[in-house]
Amino acid sequence: MMLIAIIFIVLTLFLGHLGHHWSRNRNSLVTNWPVLGMLPGLFCNLDRIFDFFTHDILDLCGGTFKFKGPWFPSLDFVLTSNPMNVNYILSKNFLNYEKGSEFREIFKPFGDGIVTSDSDSWKSQRKSLHSIMLKNNKFVNYQDIVFRQVLEKGLIPVLEHIVQQGTEMDLEDVLQRFDYDNICLLALGFDSKALSVSFPEVPSKAAFNDIEDSLMCRYLMPVIIWKLQRWLQIGEEKRLSKAMKIADHFLYDCISSKREKLRSRNRVEEDEFDLLTALLVEQEGEILTVSGKISDKFLRDTAFNFMAAGKDTISACLSWFFWLIATNPSVETKILQEIKANSPTSKDRNMILFFTGEELNQFTYLHAALCETLRLYPPVPINHKNSIQPDVLPSGEHVDGNTRILVSFYSMGRNEEIWGKDCLEFKPERWISENGDILHVPTYKFSAFSAGPRTCLGKDMSFKQMKLVTINVLWNYQVELVEGQPIAPSKSITLHIENGLKVRIKKRDI
Ligand code: HEM
Repeated sequence: MMLIAIIFIVLTLFLGHLGHHWSRNRNSLVTNWPVLGMLPGLFCNLDRIFDFFTHDILDLCGGTFKFKGPWFPSLDFVLTSNPMNVNYILSKNFLNYEKGSEFREIFKPFGDGIVTSDSDSWKSQRKSLHSIMLKNNKFVNYQDIVFRQVLEKGLIPVLEHIVQQGTEMDLEDVLQRFDYDNICLLALGFDSKALSVSFPEVPSKAAFNDIEDSLMCRYLMPVIIWKLQRWLQIGEEKRLSKAMKIADHFLYDCISSKREKLRSRNRVEEDEFDLLTALLVEQEGEILTVSGKISDKFLRDTAFNFMAAGKDTISACLSWFFWLIATNPSVETKILQEIKANSPTSKDRNMILFFTGEELNQFTYLHAALCETLRLYPPVPINHKNSIQPDVLPSGEHVDGNTRILVSFYSMGRNEEIWGKDCLEFKPERWISENGDILHVPTYKFSAFSAGPRTCLGKDMSFKQMKLVTINVLWNYQVELVEGQPIAPSKSITLHIENGLKVRIKKRDI
């Protein structure tokens, strides 16, 4: 009897506490529960997390929101899409907003690479990658060779095969395979041949995907839970360990064959100048030496980070692009007119159209359509930062030291204050000025490639490649959507189409 009375009192007190808490928080956009904080609201909306952040939270609270995690302290965060805050965090007060040690621990598979590092380590890697990716003529020429190769030997033959078969296909899968072949060649000089008519299983590609998914789970979970899973080697942590072994084995194999190949040479051909080569060789006149100072671990981390940054971003943007084009035929017509105006006459109609960077600058409308795609579907939807010192954001919110900040690029692209009432519509025209040039939009408003000192290093390369792919696909084929398929953004680190993009393709007669 006594026990029942005690249980009754405890229950009444607990429910009273819940009721009091609920009535205090019912006007908050997300209910802040005792013990669990706002986590239940987050998990209930996990399937539409980016729209939840955008339309259910940020649109209603002026663009910045403090999310209370459960009593484990690590899941509190500040969410923002306010352009002044974004400018402040990514550029003006850059030194106070780093990736942080907690992020590095979660993303440990990235090693000491550029994506997760801070301070001097980040600075020196940024300098070295910047000079290779943007300034090293041999590497820049090699990019063109690779782009041409993956188009000529990968994408076009596979699309021709599908046309002949007359079957439906998942265009997102094709583009992801294309992206993977491209990034493996650029980083390692290795042709993974993921894009072939047999659509092979590529273990290293599957491993990179598993790593990305498992790390996303880690990021959303209290530290103690994923660490326990890691210790017990169960669930996502087991999957991660297995995938890491495959990815590392693959990378170290490529590194050792590269060292061996370079040792036996006294010159490097222009179609071999990949990232590993650029890091390893020192050439003075005709004398080529292979640097002995660079460790395999450094090469592994650099290649892993380069591949992770560039692996799925282009294909994510292109998948959304082809979906948007198929649902906006007037945009497709205008792009086709632009391709026709800039291409050889139909008499010498080639299947593969290749343009230099300068020639691609003529494709203003296509550039606008790609920017519009990146605005609505930024491949990197969220950017992580961690505050070092307490601070006050331009919007007035106080931020404690050591606090997670999530900048939602997805929400920024759908912000009415930046883009106007028609912000949810796909309108490439909004990017074109009255005299027909591309309008300059500051990076704190259009942040698909981030902003400030950590701006994407692959931006120019990506535009070039996305233009070459879209020109060649639209020039040669009509892409039709398979009716009735669900189209929704994924809830992953890179913003894919959740269930792929099923299409039928036919030869285009121009
Ligand atoms: C449409 C394609 C792409 C988009 C939208 C994109 C977007 C971004 C974003 C938002 C960041 C900042 C990430 C962060 O701070 O956590 C970033 C960083 C980076 N991106 Fe890209 N990216 C694209 C393609 C590429 C490609 C193809 C490469 C290389 C092959 C690349 C290399 C990098 C690197 C090395 C960084 C790290 C920069 C740093 O931390 O200093 N990106 N990218």
